[in-house]
Amino acid sequence: MKPALPMLLACACLASAGCDLSRTPTFDDKHVLHGDVAQGRALVANGRFGCAACHAIPGVDSPKGVAGPPLHGMASRAFIAGQLPNKPDVLVGFLRDPPAFVASTGMPNVGLTAGQARDIAAYLYTLEGVNEP
Ligand code: HEC
Repeated sequence: MKPALPMLLACACLASAGCDLSRTPTFDDKHVLHGDVAQGRALVANGRFGCAACHAIPGVDSPKGVAGPPLHGMASRAFIAGQLPNKPDVLVGFLRDPPAFVASTGMPNVGLTAGQARDIAAYLYTLEGVNEP
């Protein structure tokens, strides 16, 4: 009779909406589905989108611009742009089209594809500490 209880729990769980036995997403879940960290870092570093022209970004060389906030500690911030919940889907969306999320934002739409935004978000979520160079 041992397997009966887990089976029962699984059935009850499957019957309730939004229940996933294998994984419990939390506010701190910073995993970006299909995001490629190395690719994201390369996209930020190659200068094509001007990220580093406006932001100081750990792991990416100058110009370490100051038009936007430094991006260290993105993994541990509670908010994006001071007001959006810092969750993977929100970050990806914001990166693709910041004014669509925060009308008054100083960050322009730099023309990222969905895939590029996911890769960059995955990279940004590797930035933990506030004291990174
Ligand atoms: C023209 C300057 C500019 C460019 C280019 C730019 N940003 Fe920004 N970015 C900003 C500004 C200004 C803000 C602050 C937005 C706000 O608070 O409304 C911002 C905010 C952000 C935030 C939220 C940070 C936080 O603390 O909430 C992230 C993440 C970000 N930018 C990433 C990027 C990435 C990645 C790129 C390149 C793909 C990029 N930015 C390109 C100016 C820029």
